[in-house]
Amino acid sequence: PLAPLEDRHARQHTYLRISLTERCNLRCTYCMPAEGLADLTPRAELLTPHELQRLATLFVRQGVDKIRLTGGEPTVRRDIVDVVARLASLRSEGLLQLGMTSNGMLLPRLLPSLAAAGLTHLNISLDTLDPHLFELITRRSGAGVARVLAAAEQSVKLGLTTKLNVVVVRGVNDSKDVLDFVEWARHRDIVVRFIEYMPFDGNKWRPEKLVPYRVLLERIVERFGPLEKVGDTANDTSKHWRVPGSRGTIGFITSMTDHFCGTCNRLRITADGNLKVCLFGNTEVSLRDAMRTGLPLELSGVAQTDGPASDEDLLHIVSAAVKRKHAKHAGMSAPEDLA
Ligand code: GTP
Ligand code: 5AD
Ligand code: SF4
Repeated sequence: PLAPLEDRHARQHTYLRISLTERCNLRCTYCMPAEGLADLTPRAELLTPHELQRLATLFVRQGVDKIRLTGGEPTVRRDIVDVVARLASLRSEGLLQLGMTSNGMLLPRLLPSLAAAGLTHLNISLDTLDPHLFELITRRSGAGVARVLAAAEQSVKLGLTTKLNVVVVRGVNDSKDVLDFVEWARHRDIVVRFIEYMPFDGNKWRPEKLVPYRVLLERIVERFGPLEKVGDTANDTSKHWRVPGSRGTIGFITSMTDHFCGTCNRLRITADGNLKVCLFGNTEVSLRDAMRTGLPLELSGVAQTDGPASDEDLLHIVSAAVKRKHAKHAGMSAPEDLA
């Protein structure tokens, strides 16, 4: 029989991404409308620190060794340090990496406490080094650039494995900004990763806005000369290179032109407690409702839980959802169909 977190395509799921909130303190044009998201989940319906700890424990006991906290913007949760501390305690159960993906705006104040609470990995999203363009992209003050960069430098000093995520959009930040970031990384122990722009519901994605990573790679070589290939790790979403003699590394997350579904090891929990087995798929089942009230058969996919689910019930529910995971998502195989 398959292990609980193994799917029908022999993929072992060892990486859990947990969204802590749908809210964000920026309004990036490719992500949100100017007025913010409608229909935010009321606070009482988000997973509590205790529920997050319970679920994370269950997953870690089934072999998850990497957890990443995401959002929205995870640092807008007022209990963020408590959540990190609770999850970091799972090191004794086999958790190796506890990461966060953040836009960095609140990190200058929070980073020392997060590091002390046990955060080990930090990915910071920043799409330009130019304050004026930052303002156009995020619809917030360009002073943010300096704050985010300060957070990135502080993160390295605190010993966290630190990466910058740059979503590349044609005509917005695909030439000067990309080269600026490569130059910036020459003197810092940071991985700068350029991300292919992906379509999500209502984010105004169009095929012309996507810049294939090979095009960026050529632009970088044109300016900096031939790059050295850096080894990629298993299940990595990115391919890495280095400008000879530089400290930092450059990566490309090629979700669109060379998807990595075949080695996908990820599961997700949404802020309101739904399990997702693919970024592009629908939610599978509400783990929150299972924990709080129990689930009828048609929702659990396994059996009716008679009152709030036990850990064993939860594991059955999760395992059944993992077995429904597709080999690859349609959104990844034919981006041109999504326009
Ligand atoms: P590391 O753990 O440092 O490798 O980070 P990560 O790439 O797993 O996570 P991060 O939150 O930094 O996400 C960076 C980008 O990876 C996102 O903008 C997405 O483009 C892409 N990405 C993250 N998770 C998935 C996924 O499950 N499927 C696909 N196709 N892309 C993903
Ligand atoms: N395509 C690719 N990456 C995106 N992100 C947000 N929206 C998109 C998109 N449409 C990035 C953020 C962050 C990461 C979690 O996802 O910038 O770095
Ligand atoms: Fe979306 Fe992240 Fe930008 Fe916030 S910082 S609006 S979550 S992409």
